[in-house]
Amino acid sequence: MKILGIETSCDETSAAVIEDGKTILSNVVASQIDLFQRFGGVVPEVASRRHVELINPVVQQALDESNSTFQDMSAVAIINRPGLIPALIVGVSAAKAIAWAAGLPLIGVHHLEAHIYANFLVEPDLEFPFVCLIVSGGHSDIIYMTGHGQYKILARTRDDAAGEAFDKSARAMGLGYPGGPIIDKLAQEGNPKAVHFPRARVGDTLDFSFSGLKTAVVRYIEKAGEDININDVAASFQQAVVDVLVNNTMKAAQKKGVSRVVIAGGVAANRTLQKQMKERGAELGIKVTAPPPKLCTDNAAMAAAAGYYRFIRGEKSGLDLDSYASEPLGEREYI
Ligand code: KG4
Ligand code: ZN
Repeated sequence: MKILGIETSCDETSAAVIEDGKTILSNVVASQIDLFQRFGGVVPEVASRRHVELINPVVQQALDESNSTFQDMSAVAIINRPGLIPALIVGVSAAKAIAWAAGLPLIGVHHLEAHIYANFLVEPDLEFPFVCLIVSGGHSDIIYMTGHGQYKILARTRDDAAGEAFDKSARAMGLGYPGGPIIDKLAQEGNPKAVHFPRARVGDTLDFSFSGLKTAVVRYIEKAGEDININDVAASFQQAVVDVLVNNTMKAAQKKGVSRVVIAGGVAANRTLQKQMKERGAELGIKVTAPPPKLCTDNAAMAAAAGYYRFIRGEKSGLDLDSYASEPLGEREYI
């Protein structure tokens, strides 16, 4: 059973074909990063116009690389929430047109759910329950999953997302956009103990707060002037983020008594985060899974994977499917 997945929620135009929910036959990702480097961030209307130019060739390439046609598909899965509305509507419109013209079921999926499901592409037999840390440019959430499509939000960020902290701090350090991969690289050569940056706690919750950390980086750079070792600052900043992400995720896993943790989203591509989450997990007897970097950042294979599990549950969306700027993945559970 083949599912066509499409993703246009931010600055990546992506289409993928996956088989039986686990085998990636194609996963084409056309990044618009070059377009936004001079702005230091995504401009929604500009992203939207680029999606319009790219969507048809990207979908065609995904079909060609998988040696299939629309008629070979069982359904079209589209990320319709949350995201930048001008960007989302391009993919949603394309998916609706394909579904209508080819007579295929349309399945709307949540962007964060898709990030989690990247883990099922790596480990199709992943067992419930587990705790998932989702860290991207727009979100930092700890989710508890008891079954397919069943989500409880155990923690979230009160201000900036982890990826946003990477991008804003990189900008303060005079590095390029997006900041995450650049800091990840520089940090390999730096001393994570060189500068002490704050690790915020939010009352007695496991919620995150990264805006103070970003301000601390800005202040440190202002004060140090020319006299900074950028590798050390990158490594120290990254360690502050990773410490909080690892601590809170492992505390959530212990409170829920699970033996599995998965990580997802663009920041999950971070090498230090992957390594230290696995190390701490090993100490606590908790197995940690993380997708390879290409499946952590935005892509359509993860959309197709999430769509597959909705499809086999008999769920489908109408052709009146809308796009939403924000929508929680599930209800909050205080632990
Ligand atoms: O999931 P994603 O591709 O898009 C959103 O849904 O936001 O995540 C993008 C974010 C950006 O903030 C980017 O800087 C960050 O993920 N990122 C990383 C790494 N690769 C991407 N952050 C830290 N280390 C990385 N290797
Ligand atoms: Zn994302």
